[in-house]
Amino acid sequence: MNQDPKRYTITAALPYTNGPVHIGHLAGVYVPADIYARYQRLQGKDVAFVCGSDEHGVPITLKAKKEGITPQQVVDKYHEIIKKSFQDFGISFDNYSRTSAKIHHETASEFFKKLYDDGKFIEEVTEQLYDEEAGQFLADRFALGTCPKCGYEESYGDQCENCGTSHNAVDLINPRSVISGSKPVRKETKHWFLPLNEYQDWLDEWILKGHKKDWKTNVYGQCKSWIDDGLQPRAVTRDLDWGIPVPVDGADGKVLYVWFDAPIGYISATKEWAEREGKDWEPYWKDEQTKLLHFIGKDNIVFHCIIFPSMLKGEGSYILPENVPANEFLNLESNKISTSKNWAVWLHEYLEDFPNQQDVLRYVLTANAPETKDNDFTWSDFQQRNNSELVAIFGNFVNRVAVLTHKYYEGEIPQPGAFSEVDENTLRELRAYPSVIASSLERYRFREAQQELMNVARLGNKYLADEEPWKSIKTDPERTKTVMYVALQIASALAVLSEPFLPHTSGKLKHILKHAEVNNVPEWASVSQDTVLLPAGHIIGKSELLFSKIEDSQIQQQLDKLEASKAANEAEAKEVTPQKDTIQFDDFTQLDMRVGTILEAEKMPKTKKLMVLKVDTGIDVRTIVSGIAESFSAEEIVGKKVTVLVNLAPRPLRGVESQGMILMTETPDGKLVFVNPDEAGVDNGATIN
Ligand code: MF3
Ligand code: ZN
Repeated sequence: MNQDPKRYTITAALPYTNGPVHIGHLAGVYVPADIYARYQRLQGKDVAFVCGSDEHGVPITLKAKKEGITPQQVVDKYHEIIKKSFQDFGISFDNYSRTSAKIHHETASEFFKKLYDDGKFIEEVTEQLYDEEAGQFLADRFALGTCPKCGYEESYGDQCENCGTSHNAVDLINPRSVISGSKPVRKETKHWFLPLNEYQDWLDEWILKGHKKDWKTNVYGQCKSWIDDGLQPRAVTRDLDWGIPVPVDGADGKVLYVWFDAPIGYISATKEWAEREGKDWEPYWKDEQTKLLHFIGKDNIVFHCIIFPSMLKGEGSYILPENVPANEFLNLESNKISTSKNWAVWLHEYLEDFPNQQDVLRYVLTANAPETKDNDFTWSDFQQRNNSELVAIFGNFVNRVAVLTHKYYEGEIPQPGAFSEVDENTLRELRAYPSVIASSLERYRFREAQQELMNVARLGNKYLADEEPWKSIKTDPERTKTVMYVALQIASALAVLSEPFLPHTSGKLKHILKHAEVNNVPEWASVSQDTVLLPAGHIIGKSELLFSKIEDSQIQQQLDKLEASKAANEAEAKEVTPQKDTIQFDDFTQLDMRVGTILEAEKMPKTKKLMVLKVDTGIDVRTIVSGIAESFSAEEIVGKKVTVLVNLAPRPLRGVESQGMILMTETPDGKLVFVNPDEAGVDNGATIN
């Protein structure tokens, strides 16, 4: 491919519709993809930026089972939430489709059929896990067991979340069924396999020996290890009732493997878009002059670099990805983001909690993007980056320029005089930014690119601080005109260059500067040229706040929300002793429980746990032997009010007769506590019922 492709097909991983989208997805995939797509459009490139909901696969059917609804209901619910949240957030997909769409079923079936007819699959009967209780095969996430590689006991059938290896459900040690909990048997079934081994040499050429050395090291490294390990045939069908039916005879009850159909979703989404726009979809997928890019998270690398390219190659008429800029993972407050544990910042909730502050999240996620290693999102960093970067640097510069222009010139851009050396240098520096930022973006270095954008605002702040127009207005108003003119050019450049990163802010800023009313509306390339962005005489609008301070209380609220999820998880994870058999009221009344006071306490010699107590029960003073010595000292319990079961038959403990029992409970870490009537101000002997 030459340096100047004719068009771009940009894909973002199709999110699973078994839950909403969270900041991990955004930072890893959607924000960088969106920045890239917006940037290429600003360069005047022909872009198809496509995505959609990934609606098949086992996790969806599991979610449906759990919620007692149908898989279709699950995907309908999350498809709407996800689609709307992307839209409100400003992810500029040209099309957001879904894999339950008719056009996708057709496209994926045809794709399978073509490979099938061309003899590109192996048909094979193998043994798979089968749940006899549930009467179904246990593909992928329907099976849990011990990972054959690392020994993790909760590994899924298709992948171990502990060590990241993918395997087949039959490889699990001690497998169990997620549906019934029972131990599965092995049963024969026929499936179609993509013989990846036949693509081994080609992949080696294309990725390892070919020009893919410029892929990110994390991506290249994973590919290399897969290829070096030797590729095996992969089943592309499943025994399941949710998915795209296998379009050949003798495949009843079988569907396409979700990882076979989902990437074809990129093609279906492009087709759907082209139909709507009256375009031809094929050049976007078949013309060598098209640059195909897949934005994904690291758990998707093998599918996008090895399996999908092999499918495309096998089909024969498609282009291959030029690059797959996969990101690592984002953690949240030092813990792994988890949908099932509700340890996440959900996009749709963020949009409610921080209305009109989409760009703050975009900014923070890019500033902290997990580009080369896993990274951590914290709410305090979020607040700090907003308050001391967006508000204090970007917002402050723009606000000063707009306010002063109104104060001095009623909003009209002044006619500049001769430029000083500082002015010339500042403008020269400004004109270099489009290519500086572009060069970072072309190399998928989004953090670096955004830092350079902020340097434009820093340049503006420094210029104002050095030239002090608020001082010169009194001494040299002509000089002030030139300074304000230059500052306005910087503000205008910011409006243009911020668009890929902070589209809402860019829109507001263009509105303030009234970009649309300028003859040659400033664009990316014009910032580099020796032309003016905003001419003298142009009148700008009133300043509006681009960013506002985020208060501690807002951050605390978010932290409280996370704390609540943590508490809920802990409560769920805790093993509670099961309830005993039901008793009748009469059984209960036979227990005679009284309030008592411990009068004396003495540890029983040669025992670890036992203590001999003298307890005033209101009826009498009696001896009770209690196993509490590890939790209390004698001194601290003398005088304590306790609950005593007084009519328990006496029993000897190490030779001392115990005449009752003190009621106790236990903290999670095993410390005993009295069931304590102290608060109540009751007398010894009061009955408990
Ligand atoms: N749904 C997958 C995930 O969230 C990604 C699918 S990407 C596609 O990990 F290529 F298959 F579409
Ligand atoms: Zn493992």
